[in-house]
Amino acid sequence: MSTWIICLLFQAVVAGEVLKFPPGFKLGTSTASYQIEGGWNASVTSTGKGENIWDRLTHSHPELIADRSTGDVACDSYHLYEEDVRILKELKVDHYRFSLSWSRLLPGGFSNNINPDGVVYYNNLINALISNNITPMVTLYHWDLPQPLQDLGGWTNPQTAIYFEDFARVAFELFGDRVKMWITINEPSSICVGTYEADIAAPAYVRSPGIGLYLCGKTILLAHARAYRLYDSVYRKKYGGKIGITIDTIWAEPKTNASEDVDAAERVMQVGLGWWAHPIFSAEGDYPQIMKSRVEQNSKVENFSESRLPPFTPKEVKFVQGTADFFGLNHYRTLLISNHEFPSDSPPSLIKDLGVVGSIDPNWKPSPKIVPWGFRKVFNWIKNAYNNPLVIVTENGYGDGGGIQDNARVLFLKEYMKALLLALLEDGCNINGYTVWSIMDNLEWRDGYTVKYGLYDVNFNSPNRTRTPKVSAIFYRDVIKTRTLPEKWNLDTITKTVKTLKLPKFNKQN
Ligand SMILES: *[C@@H]1O[C@H](CO)[C@@H](O)[C@H](O)[C@H]1NC(C)=O
Ligand SMILES: *[C@@H]1O[C@H](CO)[C@@H](O)[C@H](O)[C@H]1NC(C)=O
Ligand SMILES: *[C@@H]1O[C@H](CO)[C@@H](O)[C@H](O)[C@H]1NC(C)=O
Ligand SMILES: *[C@@H]1O[C@H](CO)[C@@H](O)[C@H](O)[C@H]1NC(C)=O
Repeated sequence: MSTWIICLLFQAVVAGEVLKFPPGFKLGTSTASYQIEGGWNASVTSTGKGENIWDRLTHSHPELIADRSTGDVACDSYHLYEEDVRILKELKVDHYRFSLSWSRLLPGGFSNNINPDGVVYYNNLINALISNNITPMVTLYHWDLPQPLQDLGGWTNPQTAIYFEDFARVAFELFGDRVKMWITINEPSSICVGTYEADIAAPAYVRSPGIGLYLCGKTILLAHARAYRLYDSVYRKKYGGKIGITIDTIWAEPKTNASEDVDAAERVMQVGLGWWAHPIFSAEGDYPQIMKSRVEQNSKVENFSESRLPPFTPKEVKFVQGTADFFGLNHYRTLLISNHEFPSDSPPSLIKDLGVVGSIDPNWKPSPKIVPWGFRKVFNWIKNAYNNPLVIVTENGYGDGGGIQDNARVLFLKEYMKALLLALLEDGCNINGYTVWSIMDNLEWRDGYTVKYGLYDVNFNSPNRTRTPKVSAIFYRDVIKTRTLPEKWNLDTITKTVKTLKLPKFNKQN
């Protein structure tokens, strides 16, 4: 077929608004171990689950969690995983992304001691998914570091990369015969910035602005590369699966067209996303040049003897390069960015290294929290920066105060999936999957249970943690069934529609 015919077809597709997910495109939902599992001290024996950094934080500093809650029980998925599989089946998702609790498998963090109950739990979950035709997509690390490893410095300790490789080996050995989609690490920025720069994660009280985050980042990238190379050299031949990393990013929109704001927004993309993606996906490898030069320059002015950004050796650059079969993308929001140079004698920090300030536009339609064109721009930025790698959206979703009539979430999901389809069909971005965060309400880290992202409501007051579909679950089920954004979920009438929508009674048996 000649190019002009293809162009014509694409135009027809877009003009007619019949946006269809192409054959083979995967639609799923996502969770993470600490946010749903509970069973925090299940079978506390010499080989039971160990304590992780979120157990420690929620127990020792309840005042740092919005509602003083913990993940001790959460959605109780440790006991109710069959319920999770049942609701995934109701939606008929292609895949389910969940994470392994490192300290449930390796109570002390090290691979010398494996908890048999943890192995049984994940085997049961994986087998239940597979027998229901749901592809398990497994994240090795989604923020719940074993406390004993944190006590040794956590991700600022270079040795943690080796402990992570050990953990990955245990997981590949145990589950690699059935798990064909692996994600090494979820959102490195959230880990390193959230802990060492901003103190909005776990552990708390370990801030070291402008320094700790870069140590953490180097370990994370080497840990990721170790797990990838291990899989690539030993397990790929046996099992033929895929392994990637999940990187989160905002879209950084220049606040004005002035060149300094355009450059500032580009810096945010280069550092926020490129910090992780450039070493893995770019032709040159290593950190983005702008990141290296700005941190080096600031460090010099601040009288450090060397850059606060620890460099990779040439051997490490090569080791990290090319270590992903796909680009897992988490995206939630868009910010306006303007240039802002901080005084040279101000203390070291990431924001100083970036030299920017961010804001939102309160007039954004449909709302400052729903900016779908930013999503489309992210896909295009990745396509242009890294030669159009295979992208799988591993998280996208909308947080609210909870409730079944979640109109705003329906609107968000529909608009963001539309933006994804435009990036795919019109812009030629190489996207092959979309994963809603989250299948159900869960523990939203330091926000506790005050912010809800679920397609299903969870009754946290009931010992059964009853899961009830929200309107967005019905909407997503329709999307999955039709492989389109169905006409009946018309944006203009969504409010009216959902008010009169009857939630179908799902049959527990199928
Ligand atoms: C486990 O934790 C719960 C609190 O979530 C506590 O009541 C219980 O005693 C603990 N069990 C063991 C065996 O430590
Ligand atoms: C920047 O320029 C583009 C193209 O000329 C225009 O569409 C856009 O509105 C401008 N943005 C701002 C913030 O002025
Ligand atoms: C760095 O050292 C120089 C020379 O001692 C001094 O003038 C300058 O104020 C120092 N800069 C900072 C940020 O402390
Ligand atoms: C919890 O589930 C059990 C078993 O299905 C049921 O008998 C019980 O009534 C439920 N309890 C609540 C509070 O929903």
